[in-house]
Amino acid sequence: MKIEELRIQDISPEVRNGCQELNLSDSVLRQCMEKLRAQIDLGLNPSTREQASVKCYNTYVQDLPTGKEKGQFLALDLGGTNFRVLLITLNGRHFDMQSKIYVVPKEIMLGAGEVLFDHIASCLESFALQHRVAKKNLPLGFTFSFPLNQVGLKSGILTRWTKGFNCANTVGEDVVQMLAKALAKRDSIKIDVVAILNDTTGTLMSCAWKNHNCKVGVILGTGSNACYVEKIKNVIGFDGDTSKPHVIINTEWGAFGDHGELDFIRTPYDKEIDKHSVNPGKQLHEKMISGMYLGELARLLIIKFTKDKVLFGGQINPKLQERWSFLTEYISDIESDPRGVFKQCRNVLGKLNILDPTDQDCSNIRYICESVSRRAAYLASAGVATLINKMDIPSVTVGVDGSLYRFHPHFHNLMHEKIPELCNSSIENLCINLMLSEDGSGRGAALIAASGSENNPE
Ligand code: GLC
Repeated sequence: MKIEELRIQDISPEVRNGCQELNLSDSVLRQCMEKLRAQIDLGLNPSTREQASVKCYNTYVQDLPTGKEKGQFLALDLGGTNFRVLLITLNGRHFDMQSKIYVVPKEIMLGAGEVLFDHIASCLESFALQHRVAKKNLPLGFTFSFPLNQVGLKSGILTRWTKGFNCANTVGEDVVQMLAKALAKRDSIKIDVVAILNDTTGTLMSCAWKNHNCKVGVILGTGSNACYVEKIKNVIGFDGDTSKPHVIINTEWGAFGDHGELDFIRTPYDKEIDKHSVNPGKQLHEKMISGMYLGELARLLIIKFTKDKVLFGGQINPKLQERWSFLTEYISDIESDPRGVFKQCRNVLGKLNILDPTDQDCSNIRYICESVSRRAAYLASAGVATLINKMDIPSVTVGVDGSLYRFHPHFHNLMHEKIPELCNSSIENLCINLMLSEDGSGRGAALIAASGSENNPE
């Protein structure tokens, strides 16, 4: 008997049936795509954007990198698990980067906006002093990975917080001004904030720097989002440079479903996660896809099957009962075991004080993890295919970044297989390439800062 067959037999029928609702067929995925496309079209038009769950913000980035960008730049990267300050030197194809990670304590993530920006300014100050660039008035690109209604390359109004952040007195404010105000309190530094961007835009730019065919940027990390290159003529009321043919659109697809579009596939586990999040009713697509939530989704399924006495002899471990105790990285670990081997699985369960799982328990746990991550990869694929169909071009490179995509052992393959299946059959000679971005938030910020700063020769 082949290992694959063995494995299938080892999975309890209750688990296989119970995970069925996470199994999305191509026809269901196509329904999601249709709905997503409708929301994108609403978002691209300022007169209907209010009704759209997917806002499709103009980024004011209209040129892909040329490879001739030159100079020294600072960058800030706020939006995932860590906050980083970077010093980047670009010189043609040469790229050099120094960076430092700073922690954003939970009380700052959920505190007053002024305190957050003071914290950012203070980290930037100590970094700039340490690298002796504090007074050089270097151009700075700010990768701020939350929904911004941009009104220019260096101006963006925060529309909502996502991913566990929720700072008071900030929604509706211009983030660049908040940063500038915090920087102005510090005499020892002089810095020129020339651009604000989303991490998806940074990813697209950083991949396009190497591969000019990159037209989509996707983040599959703590959160999930995508941007793409759109024709100006499709952006109603475009107020940027109309002499240029394109602009990058930040879709903010994480909010897809917030108007009920995904209710037909949301499970009780999705609803439970949403209920206990800091932003109930918001970012519903993101809550089905991104690294912040997948571990918790798996945990809820594990608890359900344990209560049903299908797992662990019905014994619920107190550690596993704690919300968020099952990390998304555990899913990656468990799925990295070869088929039929449960070394990582036992290791993870050991961390949760589950010491004697049977092989069948392990098979079931792996199947639960696979069901959760496969659904996420397929939903992300449906999103990418929607953008490719909209752009209607046969050959596209998709830049991807984020811890989930980077560390999950099968996410890339699942997407690589699924995206072409969902693209329009009318697109001839389809060639889609998923490219892992190398530090999009840093290098992408520098590339955009280069185009936004006066000392750039281009
Ligand atoms: C959230 C943010 C979005 C960001 C994404 C990935 O969805 O709203 O701006 O791009 O996370 O970090």
